[in-house]
Amino acid sequence: EKSEESSSLLKGKRVLITAGPTHEEIDPVRFFTNHSSGKMGYAFAKEAASLGAEVTLVSGPTNLDPPKGVTVIQVHSAHEMYERVLERYKEQDIIIKSAAVADYKPKHTFDQKMKKKDGDLVIEMERTQDILKALGEKKQHQFLVGFAAETQDPHIYGKQKLEKKNLDAIVVNNISSEGAGFGGDTNIVSYLNRHGEQKDYPLLSKEEVAYEILHRIMDDLKDVQN
Ligand code: CTP
Ligand code: CA
Repeated sequence: EKSEESSSLLKGKRVLITAGPTHEEIDPVRFFTNHSSGKMGYAFAKEAASLGAEVTLVSGPTNLDPPKGVTVIQVHSAHEMYERVLERYKEQDIIIKSAAVADYKPKHTFDQKMKKKDGDLVIEMERTQDILKALGEKKQHQFLVGFAAETQDPHIYGKQKLEKKNLDAIVVNNISSEGAGFGGDTNIVSYLNRHGEQKDYPLLSKEEVAYEILHRIMDDLKDVQN
């Protein structure tokens, strides 16, 4: 059954996925980042393409090979990701924001390598733009899916983010439970939609998570269209 539905369920849909960490530069040799591997987002891109979607993957720096049949746009910083995503937003049907975007960046980026001095160093940081929140504010027909990485109370924080960012659905994961979150090949997630429906998944490979969540999204999309 799977092979028959493959390559047609998302036919004619444009899906934009963000993946990976961002790098926020301090100077030419140093940056702030996080532990995101990009595997979850790349799995979504591959799965969406195999379901027939026209997929754009906006990716922060990762070690992963670009999935076949996907348009890949490489970015470094949160700001770059913001620009690349926003300029493609209008024509998209589904957005899946699995990137681990840095919340802060250094207030100043130095052109030359910083030299060490005696004593401690303080680096002043400022907030990056919240890409997902901006998408929620500008939302028209798009089905907007966010992610929430939490170390405690994932459902509570996930629901708050869904409401605050005007999302259609959010995929929450408790990154402190074994087999979930950054780096690994598996994940334990829950899907919450804006109607308050919740589905908890068991430990799955990231490919399986992508497959399951994309099918949930398609079910919710049908409700929107009917
Ligand atoms: N996100 C974003 N732009 C940012 C920060 C986060 O688009 N500058 C997106 C992420 O891609 C993810 C969602 O917002 O889909 C939630 O990210 P998360 O880090 O869990 O939540 P935050 O809103 O940043 O809140 P906090 O880190 O304080 O929990
Ligand atoms: Ca964050």
